Amino acid sequence: MKVFPEKFLWGGAIAANQAEGAWNVDGKGVAITDVTANGIAKNIHDQKVESGKFYPSHEAIDFYHRYSEDLEYMAELGLRCFRTSISWTRIYPTGEEEKPNEAGLKFYDELFNKMLSLGIQPVITISHYETPLNLYHKYNGWESKKLIPLFEKYCRTIFERFGNKVKYWMTFNEMNNVHTIPYAAAGMDLSGDYAHQLLQVYQATHNMYVANALANRLAKEIMPDAHMGIMLSLSQAAVYPASPNPKDVWGTLQLQRRTFVSADVQLKGEYPGYVKRIWRDYKIQPDITDDELKLIKKYTSEYLAFSYYRSSTFENGMKIYGDTGGVVGKPNPYLKDSAWGWPIDPLGLRWMCNLVQDRYGCPMFIVENGLGAADTVDSDGKIHDQERSDYLIEHLKALGEAIKDGCDVIGYTWWGPIDIVSAGTGEMKKRYGFVYVDRDNKGNGSLKRIKKDSFNIYKKIIASNGESL
Ligand code: BG6
Repeated sequence: MKVFPEKFLWGGAIAANQAEGAWNVDGKGVAITDVTANGIAKNIHDQKVESGKFYPSHEAIDFYHRYSEDLEYMAELGLRCFRTSISWTRIYPTGEEEKPNEAGLKFYDELFNKMLSLGIQPVITISHYETPLNLYHKYNGWESKKLIPLFEKYCRTIFERFGNKVKYWMTFNEMNNVHTIPYAAAGMDLSGDYAHQLLQVYQATHNMYVANALANRLAKEIMPDAHMGIMLSLSQAAVYPASPNPKDVWGTLQLQRRTFVSADVQLKGEYPGYVKRIWRDYKIQPDITDDELKLIKKYTSEYLAFSYYRSSTFENGMKIYGDTGGVVGKPNPYLKDSAWGWPIDPLGLRWMCNLVQDRYGCPMFIVENGLGAADTVDSDGKIHDQERSDYLIEHLKALGEAIKDGCDVIGYTWWGPIDIVSAGTGEMKKRYGFVYVDRDNKGNGSLKRIKKDSFNIYKKIIASNGESL
């Protein structure tokens, strides 16, 4: 039996702010990611770009100027699709302009043309942690409803311009990370006591649900054959109870629900009871109108895209925090950690796929999975990244099992098929690529690209449509 569907979307994924560089070129405005010198995961950021300070993402790997060469590597790998984001501030520099920035639109026109000429489908994230900094300063990001029409205007512009080139879209990258990394996920800071912070989180996510519904409505009008998805971090949901203690098990479910709520609302169109219970318990009530609820009900999303890097382990009473990889839990004695302390758990991917299938029964798209490691160029001039090949193979085998279980998986895009700047830590050292980029944490290096050993492994897997696994 052939495991992977014939038209399976084998791909790779990056985000504009981690790859493009050219942070202030051709009229681009400042995004929230432009003021995070040490990555976005710790919610530590400057209020503006500080002069004299080094921001690795400002030049990143200079994808803005080198995308042709990079995409040719991707074509050589055999990628059928390539996920990247449109940088909101290239199109609307402050988010509030009346008219879009033509130079920004032109860049993405050319980028998508190049992909299509190589037979690679663009898969687009509309907002990948890239809220305009102006909207953070003025409104505390998505906490405010002011962002809804601004996002809608941005969507209209890019749908009208790129609707004939892009068929797969997703609105917000990992919005469920809002509890742990609110600055990244919703362009906002949390303040006050826990109840107030919860209110902020539920208000921001509600505003994003409305924006998502409006984007779906617009898509129906402007590009009826497009596929509209939501994108969540399921590393946030791949949580094991630390013991059979019922409190660990119950607490684990409650933790998973911080993720499920975004899928429940945007795929099923309704708020589940467990969230309303939280609002009652904490005596909070987000501002939600009947009209908004009707929109959410009517314009649900078609597929669930998700990232999966690792699982974690929850023990009742533990303080919950997280980073770009999801919840950081107790050490799991059954799993080995990556060099950055992320437990490697391929079965967790099969688990998440089955859970999505059981719970939503919708198509799913694994749009991020990968291993961050400190690769170095060996004396033979090559990069021997066996650990990455092992991670890839084991996760794809698990994905194959999920497909055999009946999961409707439409594609798989490896995170960072070419080395990019880490979102969480701002490092270049944390590399995910099949293609190495000569640049270090301080910005030294020629930016030369070199294929790693894992390049040929992924190439072979794709060429055989997964049969070589
Ligand atoms: C995901 C993000 O959370 O994790 C990516 O969508 C990010 O932007 C990826 O790069 C891996 O995290 P990190 O911190 O290793 O770059």
